[in-house]
Amino acid sequence: MCGIIGVCGVGSSLDVVVQGLERLEYRGYDSAGLVSLENSGFVVSKFADGVSSVSSLAAWVRNRDLEDAPHQVRLALGHTRWATHGGATKENAHPHLDCTNRFAVVHNGIVENYRVLRSELMERGHHFRSETDTEVIVHLVEERFRLSLDLRQAVEEAFSRLEGAMAIVVSSVEEPDLLVGARRISPLVVGFGESMAFFASDIPALLGEAARFYHLEEGEAVALRGDDLGPTNGALVEMEVSWDLQSAQRDGYPDFMSKEIQEQARAVADTVAGRVGDDGLVIVDELRLDPEILRTVNKVFMVACGTSYHAAMVAKYFFEHYCRIPVELDISSEFRYRDPIVDAQTLVIGVSQSGETIDTLVALHEAKAAGARVMVICNVVGSSMARLADVVLYTRAGPEIGVAATKTHVAQIAALQIAGLYFASLRRNLYPSDVEELMAKLSEIPPAIATALASWKSFTDVAHELVDYRRFYFLGRHVGYPVALEGALKLKELSYLPSEGYAGGELKHGPIAMIDDKAVVVAIATKTRLYDKLMSNVEEVRARGARIVLVTNEGLGEPQRADLRFEVPRVFPLFSPMVDVLPLQALAYELAVAQGLNPDRPRNLAKTVTVE
Ligand code: M6R
Repeated sequence: MCGIIGVCGVGSSLDVVVQGLERLEYRGYDSAGLVSLENSGFVVSKFADGVSSVSSLAAWVRNRDLEDAPHQVRLALGHTRWATHGGATKENAHPHLDCTNRFAVVHNGIVENYRVLRSELMERGHHFRSETDTEVIVHLVEERFRLSLDLRQAVEEAFSRLEGAMAIVVSSVEEPDLLVGARRISPLVVGFGESMAFFASDIPALLGEAARFYHLEEGEAVALRGDDLGPTNGALVEMEVSWDLQSAQRDGYPDFMSKEIQEQARAVADTVAGRVGDDGLVIVDELRLDPEILRTVNKVFMVACGTSYHAAMVAKYFFEHYCRIPVELDISSEFRYRDPIVDAQTLVIGVSQSGETIDTLVALHEAKAAGARVMVICNVVGSSMARLADVVLYTRAGPEIGVAATKTHVAQIAALQIAGLYFASLRRNLYPSDVEELMAKLSEIPPAIATALASWKSFTDVAHELVDYRRFYFLGRHVGYPVALEGALKLKELSYLPSEGYAGGELKHGPIAMIDDKAVVVAIATKTRLYDKLMSNVEEVRARGARIVLVTNEGLGEPQRADLRFEVPRVFPLFSPMVDVLPLQALAYELAVAQGLNPDRPRNLAKTVTVE
């Protein structure tokens, strides 16, 4: 989704803006632009060069530095646009200016009522230069400023007319040392450095520049001055940020995905560490209700999207087995629009890497409004979901920049199992000694991940055998089923190859019709309760000529029953998805790279989906 960065104060520079945009590249974009306020007024530059737009902008800044230096930049706004309203053209790229070229805006989100506002504004004589929903914002600010002569107030009033989830940052030649930001549901953070103040869509954009971070409360416009280097407004709430600059850099790896794959053992170890207190109880990160209330819960919903949904699917098996409570799983965008039966005895667990995915965020808002208790599993401290929740468990995976979720996925599964243990011990479904035993099994996962990743070369060798295939099917049963779905999702998002995941038992109910000698079938055949049944499914597809690949353990999945094997360490079956998924990440990565695709930036995808 769109990325925003705004900077003001001594030393404001276009380089800081471009660097911020580079760090927001993971959000996906098809155009990019910036505006700087200089002695001569606003200077705007935009590029609609697809995934090269940010590098085009960087080159423009470098050339300008050489040709025009020294130019004095007082403040600047940068933006990466992921087109929603209007094509990916230079005209539609942000920033947008008003009719008088005195106000500039960058925006992430959708102005749902923009058609009405646009015709009203046109009737009042405003001239539009783009097809975007965004442009109405800057014309509204232009009008409101005329009445109050106060930029913060003008932005707040304009913002109150906009419907939908969004974040905006506005600047004006009328108030040259001021940046004003506002948000509703969509993320926007504030940072303060030594001599500069910043707005950005996400924390990694500001690492190394800002020393303190704040999030903005909803609805209220916040003004930042380059010389006020601390919060001047109650709408800012300080965030604890433990991520460092290095964690948001590639660190010698060819891409973020390779780096994040290698960080998985540490991600799970950090998520699991220190979770049991001296009293033997499981520790969550934030608890904003009396735990007694959680004891009365009689039904759990889990809501999530994409890879996070697959982590929730894994957790359902654990929750039902150990907490003996019914768990319903919902894709967030469906939960919102069906009429789910929730009340004060329902616990709704939202699972999200970013904590900002709009579908999950709104689903949780609605569940809360209906009286449910809300638990959130997410990776970003202080994210919108974390702030809304009654109980939060953080995955301590560090920033994940690659669009494809890897380390946060395994950390989500670990965090969800911890949530299950927390819940089971609260409800007394488990004795403290059982909790201890399961925690011990969980702490065996990071070394198992490290062992599996040490075989990375053997995984990629298998992947290379499959580069000429164009159709992939993933089969799993029990907790292997969500792993199959995740393997198929990873492969399609990175390599664009048609791939589907199925529960092995479903094969005969339709999918087997697609199996022939041009198909690859990857079966999650590690040692779980349904191993033998799954291997019968494998025989069925083998008999129809498919190329068979097993994800299996040493001593299992006899070589004669498969064409190729990914071997991973054997662990406690309910935790095995954290290990079994690793070769599937390798497969997706290698088949993408073999086609010359950038695994960090798959086409049409954004890391954080903040529009519906
Ligand atoms: O930030 P979230 O975990 O809420 O994001 C959910 C999905 O958009 C995300 O998992 C997506 O499916 C990834 N691209 C998967 O690799």
